[in-house]
Amino acid sequence: MAQLTPQEQQEVVRFLEAGKPLPDKYRFLLFDDKRQVELVWNGKSNEVTNAVLPFQTIEQVDEPRSEKDASLQFNLFDVDDRGRQLKGWTNKLIWGDNKLILSSLKNGPLREEIEASGGLKLIYIDPPFDVGADFSMNVEIGEEKFVKKANILEEIAYRDTWGKGQDSFNSMIYERLILMRDLLAEDGSIYVHCDYRVTSSIKMILDEILDSKNFRNEIIWSYGAGGNPKEFFPRKHDTIWFYSKGTPSFYTDSEVMRVPYDKSTLDTHYKNIDENGRRYRIQKVNGREYLTYADEGKLVTDVWTDVGAQNATSPISKESTGYPTQKPEKLLERIIKASTKEGDLVADFFGGSGTTAAVAEKLGRRWITSDLGKFSIHTTRKRMITVQRELKANGQDYRAFEILNLGKYDRQHYIGTNLDLRQQDQVAQQSAREDEFTALILEAYKAEKAEGFKTFQGKKAGRLVSVGPVNVPVSRLFVEEVILECREKKITRVDILGFEFEMGLFPNVLEDARSKGIDISPKHIPREVFDKRAIEKNQVIFHNVAAIEVKAILKGKSVAIELSDFSVFYSQDSVSEAESTLKDKASKIVVEKGQIVKVSKDKSGIVTREQLTKKWTDWIDYWAVDFNFESKREIVRVKNIDTEEWEEIWTGDYIFENEWQTFRTKKERGLELKSVAIECTAGPRKIAVKVVDIFGNDTMTIVEIQVGGKK
Ligand SMILES: C[S@@+](CC[C@H](N)C(=O)[O-])C[C@H]1O[C@@H](n2cnc3c(N)ncnc32)[C@H](O)[C@@H]1O
Repeated sequence: MAQLTPQEQQEVVRFLEAGKPLPDKYRFLLFDDKRQVELVWNGKSNEVTNAVLPFQTIEQVDEPRSEKDASLQFNLFDVDDRGRQLKGWTNKLIWGDNKLILSSLKNGPLREEIEASGGLKLIYIDPPFDVGADFSMNVEIGEEKFVKKANILEEIAYRDTWGKGQDSFNSMIYERLILMRDLLAEDGSIYVHCDYRVTSSIKMILDEILDSKNFRNEIIWSYGAGGNPKEFFPRKHDTIWFYSKGTPSFYTDSEVMRVPYDKSTLDTHYKNIDENGRRYRIQKVNGREYLTYADEGKLVTDVWTDVGAQNATSPISKESTGYPTQKPEKLLERIIKASTKEGDLVADFFGGSGTTAAVAEKLGRRWITSDLGKFSIHTTRKRMITVQRELKANGQDYRAFEILNLGKYDRQHYIGTNLDLRQQDQVAQQSAREDEFTALILEAYKAEKAEGFKTFQGKKAGRLVSVGPVNVPVSRLFVEEVILECREKKITRVDILGFEFEMGLFPNVLEDARSKGIDISPKHIPREVFDKRAIEKNQVIFHNVAAIEVKAILKGKSVAIELSDFSVFYSQDSVSEAESTLKDKASKIVVEKGQIVKVSKDKSGIVTREQLTKKWTDWIDYWAVDFNFESKREIVRVKNIDTEEWEEIWTGDYIFENEWQTFRTKKERGLELKSVAIECTAGPRKIAVKVVDIFGNDTMTIVEIQVGGKK
């Protein structure tokens, strides 16, 4: 550290005693790690989370689907003459905040698996750099489009990213990029996709985290689509920063790395034509002659003009999933082929519609992808199953993938926490806010306050009420704590209120409670709890989680499943509110108690209501069957605090093995309501059926049957 003069030392003391911030010059005098060029913003911190949360496998997709009625045992695990399922590594689709995912991958037991299979060779990310973009999404219902608003958890992530504008975006990406660097293989590469809004700050952050000597390219992806402004040139490109950790592998031998010569080069240099009609050129270098053909093209530069955005965004394009920020597959194909070889591991922690995973799978790479939104996870699930089906049908190999979430969460983020506060103040503010929220939610639920419980805060109509965490989904651990207190205090009837419930949480945990004589009713807290007017007008509806009804069709030892009913109870806005606020000649789509209704006003103010969801099947986007639910236990790996060893623990639940599935696609809007029939071994078994609704939320039910005999 530079020696401070006695005057400077006194000055520092004076500032500290007066409680004033030190002048900027001391940054370079006091700190060891002083960078000459560095991006500084309010809230910048070198603190990086090292939390390790266990990954829970909630679903596994081994095989695209059993196409026809078959013996499951034979069809699933034996090789056929089409594409084969590759063994070993299982690809990973992870639901959750990527900060916790990254730190759990970096510091947890999965790291070993990643290293053992050669390390993470490529990370591509496309973070939400569009200030103001939120998590709302368009959902199609027949001919109409409905805008589903972001749920509370998504809104918190949005606030974390943009709450304080560019400063909070920088903090968000800074910590995650440090974690990504640490996870990357020594010869790995990272590509960060951004546009004019954040490109300059991301470049400086990357220079700092990965070192400017590891800068490789500033790729300009010029995509052409979009409007034509009057005041400036049309903005038609994104920037992709390409950095490496050390000396990266780089491959130039694939076709996608080549582009056609421009006309002037062809006219000047490729004048010769051989007997096959191919244009060629002979170049003399150091006395040797080199022959090149025009149709072989040249190595693509760092300006990419040959990848149209329309491939991903046009509704008529084959690869479009309808996800608003989807990127074209060709873009990812070039990146993946340039920086990996077959079998390498590729990751995308802001996965969106799953473009990176889809291209990686098609190119025989292994992959990890994550996203915070359930709709993204569901879009990726359907996309990956489609890719598996295509690969299998074309005789190409494919891999199984699993859907995971993080089993337990810390409570660091908090809705509305002032990001300017120091750590200890944040904790104090956090617990005060938590109490306020609980009070608010209880008021909206019309419950009275209850004291003296660990997990209950209220009571209503003879039931105790537990308010789930405000910032993360209600997890199995949370419900287990509720059950524990019920058993200790002989409580039998409870409501659990949650903004979001962990995927795959139901029905097993509720069955478990029922077997102990406890009736748990989980209910969704609607967004409207934060709207005072809605509370006053009684427009806040805490709705039940969805319910599925199925029938098992048994013929001898063959079993098929038929879906017979599906009910959802969502609400978003209300019909009466729309009727009173709509202008003439306008319309609005609302969801009320599980019905999607279009409310319209004509030019003379006459209101009409049209119900858009006419049948219960309209709510379903996807459903799948696991014909032997209890065949695969859900195991998590957690660290034993005494021995510091990783231990495998059975969570008490099972992994949903996605053995047969049907879903709507952009082209195929129909849905089968009966599964194939599967030949099963005689005896009792539990069959699980999972339904994903058009908003991307999943629900599961379990049927118990007796195959080949009486129950
Ligand atoms: C621009 S989109 C990615 C689109 C993607 N490249 C594709 O081709 O579909 C950014 C994604 O990041 C996700 N996201 C935002 N913040 C996140 C976070 N903290 N953790 C995980 N995912 C996040 C959003 O849900 C969104 O799907």
